[in-house]
Amino acid sequence: MSKKFHIHTFGCQMNVHDSEKIAGMFSESGYAEAHGVNDADVIVINTCSIREKAEQKFYSELGRLKHFKDRDPKLRIAVAGCIAQQKGSGLFKRFPYVDFIFGPQNIDSLEKWIGQESGVRSQKSDNKTQITELTDNPEHSIKNLPVKREGRVSAWVSIMYGCDNFCSYCVVPYTRGRERSRQVSDIMTEITELSAQGFKEITLLGQNVNSYGKNLNETNPPSPPFDKGGQGGFANQNIDFSDLLKAIHEVNGLKRIRFVTSHPRDLSKKLIRTMQDLPNVCEHIHLPVQSGSDRILSLMNRGYTFKQYKEKIDALRSAMPDIAITTDIITGFPGEDEQDFELTMNALREIEYDGIFAFKYSRRQDTAAVNLPEHLNEKTKSERLARVLDLQAEITFRKNIELEGKILEVLVEGASETDKDKLTGRTGSNKIVNFYGGLELMGTLVNVRILEAKQHSLNGEVIP
Ligand code: SAH
Ligand code: SF4
Ligand code: F3S
Repeated sequence: MSKKFHIHTFGCQMNVHDSEKIAGMFSESGYAEAHGVNDADVIVINTCSIREKAEQKFYSELGRLKHFKDRDPKLRIAVAGCIAQQKGSGLFKRFPYVDFIFGPQNIDSLEKWIGQESGVRSQKSDNKTQITELTDNPEHSIKNLPVKREGRVSAWVSIMYGCDNFCSYCVVPYTRGRERSRQVSDIMTEITELSAQGFKEITLLGQNVNSYGKNLNETNPPSPPFDKGGQGGFANQNIDFSDLLKAIHEVNGLKRIRFVTSHPRDLSKKLIRTMQDLPNVCEHIHLPVQSGSDRILSLMNRGYTFKQYKEKIDALRSAMPDIAITTDIITGFPGEDEQDFELTMNALREIEYDGIFAFKYSRRQDTAAVNLPEHLNEKTKSERLARVLDLQAEITFRKNIELEGKILEVLVEGASETDKDKLTGRTGSNKIVNFYGGLELMGTLVNVRILEAKQHSLNGEVIP
């Protein structure tokens, strides 16, 4: 009987996609997927350290696993992801029952560990293995790994790794390393294969996709022009994110292309034009603003003023009047006073986002903001977060109601989780729509009339 693995994932889409790669490696080594921690031979926790809450959730999950290890000493426990990178061997000290620690740049090292559970030990203590190398060498992590995908309609594809922006609150540059773009030819091969397997929607992943290609020539020698299956000849020279989108748009069979995340500073006119010109690129952009106050934006090291940000929003909307725009907000950044906070509230009123992710500022190890004066108390941060969420809930609902009666194109993803007789899918603007229909519609684009708006989704009926 084959051994079984179980993966518990925290964090962003990138981390969820990393877990698909981890699952891919276990599958290739003959492991089967366990139903849960109970029947697993190996448990991997893929961690996130973006905020303290994410970190706490990991510690409580890991604490729970001690009991399983006591019961079955043959059980192997591995910790992956951003906390693994930051804490390294400290985790072994605090949790001696952990066997393997590997960072986001070292997912490929899993292959050898699975194979032998010995050997390849960059640092050795008892029978523990830790591989948390963080290198600028692009060849190191931009290896094409096997991927066990979660969905059948929609797939994630990494186009770049790491981040160079050093926003003063953020751990990502410390956990994922310097920004590196993946080779065009590797991206195109992966997407062409996904389309051949029947995937209809691709989401391109990177912390800052708008700067794709920036260091491609410095870090990667240009590869021969990509000219497979008539996808056009693309060498790496001077290719930017818009060029990459154009190349991907040529792949037969793909119905939709999405991307996350865009940094406002690097959103170019060329990209706006490209989105407008390419029908399969979805009319949605996630453009994190973080704050409406220039003083706070500067302390955050974001590299734009609110006015500059707003100009980009105006340019997006004048090119694509129906574009959905979503954002991230941090409340209670060090030094944020009531006036700064009101500017964020005004930004929400003015821009009227389709949706937001809002967080209270969380003090993170290694980041510059830790040393700023005037850290706010939890109560103020939470109160401001609640105000932001209340305001946005109103706006989101109002915008959803405006869609009632409209006919929207929906890509059918599968059965709805809450009502098995219903299907679920998304509009190009990334809104969830539920409606009655048969599973044969999965992976197709259907026209749906919106009947009822809810806070987080829409109900509709298929137009035959
Ligand atoms: N690369 C993306 C976002 C990565 S993290 C970007 O640049 O926008 C996702 C979001 O988490 C961020 O946009 C930010 O709003 C939030 N975040 C990151 N660090 C945080 C911290 N220390 N406290 C609170 N929120 C944080
Ligand atoms: Fe973090 Fe800023 Fe990089 Fe986004 S752009 S990952 S917020 S440092
Ligand atoms: Fe978390 Fe790392 Fe993603 S910190 S948000 S898992 S990049």
